[in-house]
Amino acid sequence: MDIVKKRILITGGAGFLGSHLCDRLINDGHDVLCVDNYFTGSKDNIAAHLSNPQFEALRHDVCFPLSVEVDEIYNLACPASPIHYQFDPVQTTKTSVLGAINMLGLAKRTQAKIFQASTSEIYGEPLVHPQTEDYRGNVSTIGPRACYDEGKRCAETLFFDYHRQHELKIKVARIFNTYGPRMHPNDGRVVSNFIMQALKGEAITLFGDGSQTRAFCYVDDLIEGFVRLMATEDAITGPINLGNPVEMTVAELAEKIVDLTGSSSKIAYRPLPVDDPTQRCPDITVARETLGWEPKVPLTLGLQRTIDYFDRLMSESEDRDATIVRLQA
Ligand SMILES: NC(=O)c1ccc[n+]([C@@H]2O[C@H](COP(=O)([O-])OP(=O)(O)OC[C@H]3O[C@@H](n4cnc5c(N)ncnc54)[C@H](O)[C@@H]3O)[C@@H](O)[C@H]2O)c1
Repeated sequence: MDIVKKRILITGGAGFLGSHLCDRLINDGHDVLCVDNYFTGSKDNIAAHLSNPQFEALRHDVCFPLSVEVDEIYNLACPASPIHYQFDPVQTTKTSVLGAINMLGLAKRTQAKIFQASTSEIYGEPLVHPQTEDYRGNVSTIGPRACYDEGKRCAETLFFDYHRQHELKIKVARIFNTYGPRMHPNDGRVVSNFIMQALKGEAITLFGDGSQTRAFCYVDDLIEGFVRLMATEDAITGPINLGNPVEMTVAELAEKIVDLTGSSSKIAYRPLPVDDPTQRCPDITVARETLGWEPKVPLTLGLQRTIDYFDRLMSESEDRDATIVRLQA
């Protein structure tokens, strides 16, 4: 079957998920416009495409309006890890809310279909387990994570109001913990933290007693879910949970990473941060039934690819440091 070539805008396209989405959509034959302010994203993530005529990168902050002609929009711009989104919480809320307003306005003018990268964080500290899409969440409006959680909740509200009021074609995905190559090495997220600590032979920091559970989805699986959701008929709006329903404790994850890296790192226990959810696991029945989608990449394989990526990153930066020392000598 021939693929119809589309002009696709990806906000946050130089970030972890965004850059994998760029790879996928270019590979599928589309024209991709990557918009990013490079707050947490990096040109290295999109370097492979910079000379490709199918690809364009634009430095732009989504808090400001953008006028371009596109057929589809994936709205991913927003720092995703607590360290980054709490660095400038006001800017985080602005990015989610003003970013959504600006991208929805663009979709309205161009009649583009628009996808929102929402999050499992909208469920807060869930009182229902696993989380289904009809669960309304248990979120603090005033805690340190609220800038992200409430910003994303408000963005969902805007998406559904634009849909009802202006008949926009919307697709809202609630993304659960995802990992893979190009995660930021210092973003404090559990997978990147543990791998970096293990590779450096440093103590692995476990918050609380490590019994809190998480479910980890490999990035390629998630991107497949994005593309399938975008391709659904107009009546399908979401929200749809996308994530891996296989749950494990954070302590089990630490042990697996120590094992795979062959590291001699020991575990160090630290107090649990404020509002850190104790359990997080998606119910993906809707995604299975609507998209025929479920994660396929086994954790061991996904972790190995991620470890190889961080390993390469570390040796490249050691090589760079060695060159600088040589040049300065
Ligand atoms: N990775 C996950 O596990 C996960 C889970 C749930 C939701 N999400 C959502 O998916 C999206 C992408 O997450 P990610 O993990 O790739 O994070 P990321 O931080 O790697 O990517 C976010 C990108 O947005 C850009 N950005 C931030 N503020 C911007 C602004 N004002 N204007 C333009 N660009 C801006 C950053 O520079 C970065 O490139 C985010 O919206 C996040 O909330 C991710």
